[in-house]
Amino acid sequence: MIRGRERFFSLGYYQQVADGVAQLVTSHLPEDGQSTVVLDAGCGEGYYLRRIYAHLAGLEFSTVLCCGLDISKHAIRRAARHDPGGTYAVAHIYEMPVLADHVDVLLSHFSPVSPEDFHRVVRPGGTVLVSGPGEDHLFGLKKLLYLEPAKHEVPPLPLLRHGFELIAEHRIRYEMRVSGAGHVADLLLMTPYFWSVGRGVQERLASLDSLATDVDVVVRAYRCLDG
Ligand SMILES: C[S@@+](CC[C@H](N)C(=O)[O-])C[C@H]1O[C@@H](n2cnc3c(N)ncnc32)[C@H](O)[C@@H]1O
Repeated sequence: MIRGRERFFSLGYYQQVADGVAQLVTSHLPEDGQSTVVLDAGCGEGYYLRRIYAHLAGLEFSTVLCCGLDISKHAIRRAARHDPGGTYAVAHIYEMPVLADHVDVLLSHFSPVSPEDFHRVVRPGGTVLVSGPGEDHLFGLKKLLYLEPAKHEVPPLPLLRHGFELIAEHRIRYEMRVSGAGHVADLLLMTPYFWSVGRGVQERLASLDSLATDVDVVVRAYRCLDG
């Protein structure tokens, strides 16, 4: 499954999302730029963190340390293989091996959210970016899977009661045209829908070699409040 995700990422279908997220991370870095820390909590194979690094490399942010953690050792092994000089840890987001008040920007991209530990590790005034599916995300794919496909429900704001304030909400939207043998199958494999459809539907999707679908990602930026 990790290899399927890597193949799909390497074809650039999610590059607009990654570049949008990288720009948002950069825009929330402190301006003095001294020893800045970015943490991707639930980084998977590190695709988004590498895009953030690439983005920062073209700017004046040479002192930024980008770290990733994930509960999956297989994902972290792949992330470290792609980025041998990077800082990665196999860890739970509910008890992160990170000192208190050390993170300037924490990214949680399509990953679980841990309000208490996010608040512990992010310095007061720092930012948490939480991204997840908007209501139309992959709707073109869902239409092929379900008789009555439902739109995503964007969850309420889980961090608000835990010492954060919402400072901005961004949306990254475009039409993704998937084309090529095995690409639709790899996309399905990256989604939770893979497990909810039967083998017949999986095989039908695997035989498709093109698909047009919406990408719709909501990114919410929260400021960490003191205390
Ligand atoms: C949908 S994937 C997103 C991965 C990555 N952010 C991306 O978008 O490519 C969700 C990730 O959260 C990780 N995860 C799930 N529960 C976790 C936990 N309790 N602690 C750390 N990581 C967790 C999974 O292993 C998985 O890599």
